[in-house]
Amino acid sequence: MLNNLIFIVLPYAALALVLIVTPYRWYTNRLTWSAYSTQFLERKTLYWGINPWHYGIILILLAHLAGIIAPGVMKRLLGHMDALIFLESVGLGLGFLALFGSIILLLRRVNSPMLKRVTFAGDWVLLFLLIAQTATGIYISLFMRWGSQWYLHTVVPYFYSLLTFKPQLEYMADFPLIFKLHAAGAFLIVALLPFTKLVHMLYQPITFLKDPPILYRWLSRARERVG
Ligand code: HEM
Repeated sequence: MLNNLIFIVLPYAALALVLIVTPYRWYTNRLTWSAYSTQFLERKTLYWGINPWHYGIILILLAHLAGIIAPGVMKRLLGHMDALIFLESVGLGLGFLALFGSIILLLRRVNSPMLKRVTFAGDWVLLFLLIAQTATGIYISLFMRWGSQWYLHTVVPYFYSLLTFKPQLEYMADFPLIFKLHAAGAFLIVALLPFTKLVHMLYQPITFLKDPPILYRWLSRARERVG
């Protein structure tokens, strides 16, 4: 039951939401497409959160993708003990970097009343999910060794079975709960993508130098004019 929910229902539901809600949001409210910036409210702590987070997590996600896009190359590469140890160590370092960044991003909002006022339920849920996702990933990397290798023989064929609409649960069914939570977390994050500021992930890499216009209105000025 739990396996069906995590490995069949969740991934397809997440994909459907991304495919349907994302274009809807693009056409109906283009101004909310970008990340809702809080940089002008606080930028010092932001720097120490956002840089470690992005440098860590983007490289880790690319590594997750590499196994799916080029499993043959990855199998050959990770077949060398030195490369395996080197890449796993770098991955772990990046994991801790991302965890550090995400915790700073959370503390930044928790400790600033001004930021709290512009932090909505979706932002909190997303931040907690991202921290949990990073922490479970690090746990897997540390205590279920050598994940980058067994990933290629379990997760990758499972993903291909999803893509061909013939999900093969047997690849996933016997994993420990912590791994299942990591997978469920990933699908939940994808499902939330079109509803939260995470949607900037789809926009930023394409034209990251060209932000869409964000309209800011100062409430005090507006009140003065009304008065
Ligand atoms: C939102 C998507 C995801 C994020 C943000 C994420 C994040 C992470 C992080 C931070 C690590 C630790 C990296 C390290 O310390 O080496 C990790 C490791 C891992 N993740 Fe994910 N992950 C995601 C999706 C998935 C999915 C869908 C699966 C499989 C169903 C998966 C399987 C693994 C495995 C097997 C490892 C251990 C790799 C190793 O030992 O080197 N991840 N993940």
